[in-house]
Amino acid sequence: VHETDLYRTSYHFQPQQNWMNDPNGPMYYKEVYHLFYQYNPDGASFGKKMVWGHSVSYDLMNWIHLNHHPLQPSHHYDIHGCFSGSTTIIPSNNQPFILYTGFDETKHQVQNLAMPKNPQDPFLREWIKHPQNPIITAPIGLVEQENFRDPTTAWKGSDGKWRVIIGARNGDLGKAILYHSDDFVNWKLSPNNHQFYVIDGIGMCECPDFFPVLIDGTKHGVDLDYSSVQDSNDVIRHVLKISYQNKQQEHYLVGKYVCDEDKFVAENKITGTSLDLKLDHGEFYASKSFFDYAKKRRVLWGWVKELDTEQDDILKGWAGLQGIPRQVWLHENGKWLMQWPIEELETLRDSDNQVSILGHKLVAGSTLQVSGITASQADVEVVFELPELESAEWLDSKEVDPQIVCSDKEYASRSGIIGPFGLLALASKDLTEQTAIFFTIFRTPNGFSCLMCTDLTRINIDRSIIESFGEKGRVCITNRVYPLLATEKDAHLYVFNSGKQNVCISKLNAWSMKRAKFVQQ
Ligand code: FRU
Repeated sequence: VHETDLYRTSYHFQPQQNWMNDPNGPMYYKEVYHLFYQYNPDGASFGKKMVWGHSVSYDLMNWIHLNHHPLQPSHHYDIHGCFSGSTTIIPSNNQPFILYTGFDETKHQVQNLAMPKNPQDPFLREWIKHPQNPIITAPIGLVEQENFRDPTTAWKGSDGKWRVIIGARNGDLGKAILYHSDDFVNWKLSPNNHQFYVIDGIGMCECPDFFPVLIDGTKHGVDLDYSSVQDSNDVIRHVLKISYQNKQQEHYLVGKYVCDEDKFVAENKITGTSLDLKLDHGEFYASKSFFDYAKKRRVLWGWVKELDTEQDDILKGWAGLQGIPRQVWLHENGKWLMQWPIEELETLRDSDNQVSILGHKLVAGSTLQVSGITASQADVEVVFELPELESAEWLDSKEVDPQIVCSDKEYASRSGIIGPFGLLALASKDLTEQTAIFFTIFRTPNGFSCLMCTDLTRINIDRSIIESFGEKGRVCITNRVYPLLATEKDAHLYVFNSGKQNVCISKLNAWSMKRAKFVQQ
């Protein structure tokens, strides 16, 4: 393996080379999954002329990278770049549209429309830009012309009007602006409530995503089709996700949406503090979801950026990954969005290279190696059982924010009473290199608090990325790592307990992961 290939992943979505950022317009159409993405065809850093890359798949794991770029700068309205956007499938004639942001000749951001050249081609290789482009320009006074981008998937209200949200900024205010249209081509600000959501101090509200979730406690998804569930706040809630530019993180709101009035009343707030609900506490940004008609679920894609230097990226010849697609649903408490790697990931588990540990006592201060799998490329699920919790330490309020705890490299090795315990992934034999995914239990005035959890945890390790899903999917943390020692066969996986109390591994299953297939066409 060439040194610069050590960090290329084996089952995460990556183009063959160059820079990739946001996932764009994911959809399921004519039995094919489509993923478009922000791509620089000219190199491994963000480019002056961003295009949409395009890949297709039958199972969201193995991909065909299409050589043709469906959108590239060509007209005055997108000459400086084809930025992020979404697809919408018109139910009446099954016609897909792309709405995307053009960075125009004056460096203003405008919204454009594109249609497939041949809707019969299941791969939808070629797209035509609409002659009326740009179809939406920035509403002066309301938003800054250079900060008006990333249209969502559109949806139709019971009044028959199409609606779309566009991200924006005006000074300190991040905005989600709502538009209406009768025909998908001519759009005007919503006459009911065009400032759909406004948040102070977040910078640009990038890549908004707005979608319904069922409140029945199941994992089923629901489409943005209001003909059946119009205003049914007894059946659904809505999630408004925004990419918080100043923090480079994904924050979300859960609330009730009254379509006729274009009103969204969220139950939580975005405050920029540790109390906010986030899709991920690590490196995960510009996410976008779609309704998967094949499996009646909502699937979320998100961009996982590099943490090495631009120089490293140029040497590697690539930058940027997409996280494993996540199924998302609403927790039965109606407050939290839950996320779990889609079930297709399990098809890449190598059943000949699997280990299980059941009912193993992990004594205080001990480490146990999980051997028999390829630790650089693995899928791990684990459940810990805890001793009686009375002895847990009191929580130091400075440490409530998992973000801070998790970014503190020394934290896992500090000895508490119950925990830290957990896994050491991509670890070198001498443990000088490792990434700890750990838990620790505290007492708080209201009971016990756990960072991150005791329920089922899933960890996907793939050479330079570790994605952790704790508490059955309530807490997600995506990390990038660039091991120097713990690569290939020299990567190891351990379970550790640096607390003063024993804990029990009630169940641990780990699999080596096979490579996903990526072909060029
Ligand atoms: C988010 C973002 C979007 C924009 C795109 C450009 O990462 O800045 O707001 O459309 O990237 O590539």
